[in-house]
Amino acid sequence: MDKFLTMEKKLYAAITGIHAWVPDDLLTNADLEKMVDTTDEWIITRTGIRERHILKGEGQGTSVIGTAAVKGLLEKTGTKPEEVDMLICATVTPDMLFPATANIISHNCGIKNAFSYDLNAACSGFIYALVTASKFIESGLYKKVVVVGADKMSSIVDYSDRATCVIFGDGGGAVLLEPSTEPLGVMDAILQSDGSGMTHLHMKAGGSVKPPSHSTIDAREHYVYQEGQAVFKFAVTNMADVAAAVVERNNLSADDVAWLVPHQANLRIIDATARRVGLPPEKVMVNIERYGNTTNGTIPICLYEWENKLRKGDNVILAAFGGGFTWGSVWIKWAYDPK
Ligand code: UT7
Repeated sequence: MDKFLTMEKKLYAAITGIHAWVPDDLLTNADLEKMVDTTDEWIITRTGIRERHILKGEGQGTSVIGTAAVKGLLEKTGTKPEEVDMLICATVTPDMLFPATANIISHNCGIKNAFSYDLNAACSGFIYALVTASKFIESGLYKKVVVVGADKMSSIVDYSDRATCVIFGDGGGAVLLEPSTEPLGVMDAILQSDGSGMTHLHMKAGGSVKPPSHSTIDAREHYVYQEGQAVFKFAVTNMADVAAAVVERNNLSADDVAWLVPHQANLRIIDATARRVGLPPEKVMVNIERYGNTTNGTIPICLYEWENKLRKGDNVILAAFGGGFTWGSVWIKWAYDPK
């Protein structure tokens, strides 16, 4: 019967719940002033960040963040772990190279009837995973899919590199996708990538091209390498253009858009994207001041913090840019009123 129905009616992938989690420990600008040659004033002016959350303690990886987010999500949506069909974890800081952090999160949450895998698209990973997951719902194949975006950036940040260490933090969030016959959920998306951007943002060692060795460690090659200005230039243009393209090709006006949810990498990039889409600051979710750039965590953490302001039918534009380069924008119609 279900199969028959799906052939009759178009299915949409609706977000039916959101939860997020960040660790308690804070790394403030004042703390960073003691670690590198920087000032609170420089960090605020150049990035908009005041503090970040950091996951501390032995044996604590990204799965700790993802597990807390998914457990909260299942509880709040009344979903039994065994009902979940699939779980995708977007991350650049997996617990280990293998197995997938998604497998570890599923195991920790008692999700047994699902297949789980990681997706790596750097800071665009959450929206890539959201769009990928939506196809399994729209096809009628699955009924409950969890998408997690989580990173422990503090595990790959060089706290002697003042241009990079000030921007990143740890955290993550998770959404539940379920089928809807009403036009709600993921409506359209443009996702793009350009591998020539690799030179500007990558981690030099630890992969198959340069396995870990004493010399890679001595050369500090297991940390994020970022040419900030070059990345900034591409991010400002591409994130703003792709968000505007999604809005324009769906004939949405600035008035039709309730919220812009930009990846939180730098307040100046966020402001440029909002201007390009023609949205006033009050329609833009911004919490970079308190979390910094949590990579795959930024967008779900924003959605979670704004959940009580979101209304059924709201047009929400997600936009991201990250290493790869990867970038993209997703138009979603919010599927529920505050509960
Ligand atoms: O999310 C993934 C994608 N990543 C991004 O979107 C990040 C994009 N890039 C950025 O957000 C910015 O480029 C940064 C925040 C990383 C850097 O800001 P910037 O305004 O581009 O600074 P800059 O690298 O051009 O450096 C300007 C000056 C330099 O000094 P001189 O050479 O002009 O004397 C830097 O050495 O600021 C200096 N500087 C700092 N000074 C104080 C760099 N970092 C710091 C610092 N404190 N933390």
